[in-house]
Amino acid sequence: MTRLLPYVHPHVEQTLRHKDQLFQLARLHKGPIHLIFPDIFRENIAYFKAVFAELELQARIYYAHKTNKSKVFVKQALKSGISIDVASLGELTTALACGFTGTRIGCTGAKNRDFLITALHHQCLISLDSLFELQEILKLLDLCALPQARLLIRVSDPQTRDRSLILKGSRFGIPHAQVPIVCELIQTDSRLVLEGFHFHNYEPAEAKAGFVDDMLTLIEDAYTMGLSPHVINIGGGLRTPWLADYRQWSEFIDALAVALKERKPTGTWRNYSYGLFVNERGFIAGQDKMLGEFVTTAPAEVLRDILLDQSLRDRSLADILRENMFEIMLEPGSSIFAHCGISFLRVLGVKNADDAENLLLLDGNTYNLSVFMREQLMDPLLISATESAPQPYGAYLAGNLCKEGDMLLKRKVPFTQVPQAGDLICFVNTAAYTSDFEDASPHQHPLGKKFVVDMRQGAPSFYDEEVYSPYYL
Ligand SMILES: Cc1ncc(COP(=O)(O)O)c(C=O)c1O
Repeated sequence: MTRLLPYVHPHVEQTLRHKDQLFQLARLHKGPIHLIFPDIFRENIAYFKAVFAELELQARIYYAHKTNKSKVFVKQALKSGISIDVASLGELTTALACGFTGTRIGCTGAKNRDFLITALHHQCLISLDSLFELQEILKLLDLCALPQARLLIRVSDPQTRDRSLILKGSRFGIPHAQVPIVCELIQTDSRLVLEGFHFHNYEPAEAKAGFVDDMLTLIEDAYTMGLSPHVINIGGGLRTPWLADYRQWSEFIDALAVALKERKPTGTWRNYSYGLFVNERGFIAGQDKMLGEFVTTAPAEVLRDILLDQSLRDRSLADILRENMFEIMLEPGSSIFAHCGISFLRVLGVKNADDAENLLLLDGNTYNLSVFMREQLMDPLLISATESAPQPYGAYLAGNLCKEGDMLLKRKVPFTQVPQAGDLICFVNTAAYTSDFEDASPHQHPLGKKFVVDMRQGAPSFYDEEVYSPYYL
């Protein structure tokens, strides 16, 4: 069984050594327990800021609030001096309640009228999702008698000069072909202020550099129409290295490929293949895509690579942005939340499946940790209440729902001792899109509860999420 050990941030490692306190916290809530680390969030913000400072760029970081619901991160973002990207009226209200003002709030995604009305009143920066939305904004400016709307045009299908790159368009934003129509409409109404252009996707750095180049061309075109946009929002989509040793990842893929080809046990639930398949010629396909699921370069490095790209214009994109006094905007979600959370589920006990495989029954389910988690491959860690003799033990993690598909991971997890009832299983790196993204209570099971780990005094101090503030100890 291949190990896929997660990278464990030193603050997390230190926290996990306080086993007694972890079990005490587990007594405070029946359901899943999530620990969140605002100090790691602050550190991740600093990495991005350092790149912008090094390249002497005017930059704004709008962290994607949707990634984690906690107000703790909203407050930490406020204190760290960055901005916030909200995708609903609820998120906007939270941002305002935590102290953000409209000048530091960006609004993205599909927006209903209530969301738009509040965003317009607070002068938030609105990233246009459609021509229809622009028409809505015009109606609302009249209806609310407001003087202006600050806008970005989100482009759904940014282009690159390199035609060999096959890129997927997004369902969000406005197709390239409609951008001139939108610009014309903006140009005819002085209340509409076009600040810049926006894209968000998961393409690699080379493609993203190409998209920045495309946005520069759109800015040039807009200038010829009398508009003066000066912002390029490159969205999020920067991935993070999550494994301690990337080599384990290729070992895992190789072992899975051999097992599939030789029709041997795959070590995955009901032979789940994570996208690998034996093609018509009998070869394994899908490895490249799977290999690309984990990356080795830190997000701040990728950001620097994008901005230092020299292949598209006569000098680097950073130089061009600086010389023209253009601003760069970043909307990080998963990258800014990297390593900022861990989650615990209690062990109910162990049993065997019909094929004699071990099942570790957990008091939590796929909704508590989101569907995103099921595709995750890192080994969770066993926090045992009592020491027992070492014994290699592999098990599938089954949730507490009356639902066949409620398996927390689709891969057999290797443990060095047999987990016991009352032990905790710790999932690492759960702050982004995992710990509270889809939390629901099927069968009336309890939702998860978040506690804060504050590391400002060198050792972990635990707080209730509602009580913690980064502004005071
Ligand atoms: C518009 C927008 N910006 C930024 C993000 C954050 O993306 P990521 O988590 O990949 O950094 C998202 C995520 O869905 C998004 O929709």
